[in-house]
Amino acid sequence: MIVYASKSGNTKQLADALEKEMLVRSIPTAEISEEEIASCQSFLIGYWVNQGNCDEETKKLLTKLHGKQIFLFGTLGAKDSGNYYDAVKQRVEALLGDNELIGHYLCQGKIRPEVIERYRVMAKQKPDDEHLQMQLENYEAGITHPDQNDIQLLLEAYRCMKSKLHAPKR
Ligand SMILES: Cc1cc2nc3c(=O)[nH]c(=O)nc-3n(C[C@H](O)[C@H](O)[C@H](O)COP(=O)(O)O)c2cc1C
Repeated sequence: MIVYASKSGNTKQLADALEKEMLVRSIPTAEISEEEIASCQSFLIGYWVNQGNCDEETKKLLTKLHGKQIFLFGTLGAKDSGNYYDAVKQRVEALLGDNELIGHYLCQGKIRPEVIERYRVMAKQKPDDEHLQMQLENYEAGITHPDQNDIQLLLEAYRCMKSKLHAPKR
């Protein structure tokens, strides 16, 4: 089963790609029922990064899952540099409890245009602030993401873990 939390559409783009690949309908995390949770053994869970961790809806869902197989996928504003992606992944994986992690994919997503505009104004006001400059460049570079390459890498990660999936219960 594919579920996703997405405020501005980036993570939904990834869920849509998985939906096409698997021919399984994806549903918003907030809409999943207790029956669906009980009857399903494997979950592909999409989240967006909020303050270095997964969003609140995803956190809530994870507390309800026990003994399940979980493939995580998410989007965030930062680009993949340094160890930030690993740190985010570790924080989210720490919430898995007794579930089995079978894969985890993270990629950059675009930031809302009004936020970028705010950063442009701030960068003009503080031209010597290197950190601000870096963030602005990062956000501007993110405008095209998730792109075809991000989607391709997601599908590769999915195909790699596919053989680990338990067969559905009959
Ligand atoms: C309230 C809020 C907090 C965020 N916190 C982070 C963060 O800590 N690190 C980061 O890289 N991006 C952060 N972002 C950017 C989002 O993770 C990014 O835009 C993501 O792709 C949104 O996914 P969505 O379009 O599926 O909602 C934040 C965005 C919002 C609105």
